[in-house]
Amino acid sequence: MEDGQLNFSILNSNNMTKLTDMPQWDALKQHHALVYQETIQFLFNQDSNRFDKFSGQLASLFVDYSKNRVSDKTMELLIELAEAREVLQWRDKMFYAEEINFTEARAVLHTALRNKSNSPIHYHGKNIMPDIQAVLKRMADLSERIRNQEWLGFSGKPISDIVNIGIGGSDLGPRMAVTALTPYVHEKLNFHFVANIDPSEIYETLKPLNPETTLFIVASKSFTTQETLANAKAAKLWLLNEAGDEQAVAKHFVAVSTNAQEVSAFGIDVRNMFEFWDWVGGRYSLWSSIGLPIVIALGMDQFEEMLDGAYETDQHFLNTPIENNLPIILALIGIWYFNFFGAETQGIFPYDYYLRDLPNYLQQADMESNGKRITRDNQEVDYTTGPIVWGNRGVNGQHAFFQLLHQGTRLIPSDFIIPIQAQHPLADQHLILAANFLAQTEALLQGRTEQEVNNEMQENGINQETIDLLVKHRTFTGNQPTTSILIDKLTPKAFGNLIALYEHKIFVQGIIWNINSFDQWGVELGKVMSQKVLDELKEGDTVKGHDASTDGLINAFLKKQ
Ligand code: F6P
Repeated sequence: MEDGQLNFSILNSNNMTKLTDMPQWDALKQHHALVYQETIQFLFNQDSNRFDKFSGQLASLFVDYSKNRVSDKTMELLIELAEAREVLQWRDKMFYAEEINFTEARAVLHTALRNKSNSPIHYHGKNIMPDIQAVLKRMADLSERIRNQEWLGFSGKPISDIVNIGIGGSDLGPRMAVTALTPYVHEKLNFHFVANIDPSEIYETLKPLNPETTLFIVASKSFTTQETLANAKAAKLWLLNEAGDEQAVAKHFVAVSTNAQEVSAFGIDVRNMFEFWDWVGGRYSLWSSIGLPIVIALGMDQFEEMLDGAYETDQHFLNTPIENNLPIILALIGIWYFNFFGAETQGIFPYDYYLRDLPNYLQQADMESNGKRITRDNQEVDYTTGPIVWGNRGVNGQHAFFQLLHQGTRLIPSDFIIPIQAQHPLADQHLILAANFLAQTEALLQGRTEQEVNNEMQENGINQETIDLLVKHRTFTGNQPTTSILIDKLTPKAFGNLIALYEHKIFVQGIIWNINSFDQWGVELGKVMSQKVLDELKEGDTVKGHDASTDGLINAFLKKQ
């Protein structure tokens, strides 16, 4: 197939019955009608082996999914659905370079970036592994020079601050990884991430920095993204203002992109460009040269460890029978909640300060991947697809929104994530953190009955009138599902294990929903429309012709501008 030509064979090979017409779907629907009132407590009482059965180890991750509203029968039916949707066949298509991103005529090969076996992967008749290795080598060289203080700025001083300018997938991955792996970051280097077009963001980032010792990484797959180019331009001006000589740009700017032409047009020497390829989706790109800040921060050995960790998860996904295959199991449990119980959201609660950016990262990974309504065979879905992903780190969430989890009306499946070994145990603080993690998932499961509250209040000598007034308010239904992920220790390898687990979970859900998880046309409309509005704001004349609200807002803005 020619580059850029749409791959209709993927459509044709997709002779799938509509999801909601499948007997496996119907079986799940009937099963749901029978069991939807069964509580997780009940399921535990039914089966003393439940914890062992519904948990598993994936490298350094221990995943406990026993606190979910699933029984053996539920899992059996969900697995039958996965088989009928040919999840394993689609997994193989992804790993072996079929153009499953058919609306952009691209393969989806982020797994090749961490193919530690180095076995050949052919795409368009070419083994892509040597190119991947070559870019890794260049990244290692650059990072070593910076880490050894051999890369000097225009005035001969070593680099102390690295500013990554990028947005979406060109920001969230490296930002989250560098934050998550802070204990492994080179102690003389500081990392900053600028994404937003909001001028305050770059202003505040640059304010404390010294142009003589600052290196900018302009990261953009397309190198046409308005926000990134505007920020990169501002950064260049800031540098030139001090350096006074265009020659300084080569010492202070490197680019990460698939688009050499635009990089060069911007004024960055393509010898300072780190390549990646259109078969790496933006939100799956932290394993590619988009991970350059991670390599500079950690050194290539630790970056390789991170790739190793992702590779371990890939091997698990490829080689583990479906009934023990954790990304598939977690995906299926999600399908059960979103499509049969009507749950709308997925909570992500890392009990780890270093993982505080994980909810944001997974928001893009999941919502940009599976926020789709048209199937691979061009039909509008009649079922819900990607959930709203949200969250915050524990225990902060406990003192903010957990009230709604405990006593609100919504079903919110949530992932709780914690490293077993702390980076800094600090007396017993890590144990207190872990105790909160464990107690929260227990409380969300067990709740507290009216009888328990009543007895406890009586024991505390509270009079019956007060008890009667308060008892319902102090009752918890429990039965709120959680999945717990224990990480041995948050090392680069374990981090790789974790992120790849989520990537594959998202992939499996996309396959079941029969959508293309790898395009993002939905982001385009806003971009196009903002250009028209920008022209109007620049012209400054009263506008007419949008909807009345947008006209009104533009005119109100212009009046006080
Ligand atoms: O937000 C849409 C999007 O295309 C993302 O998918 C992508 O990660 C981001 O913009 C940045 O794009 P680029 O890397 O091309 O600047």
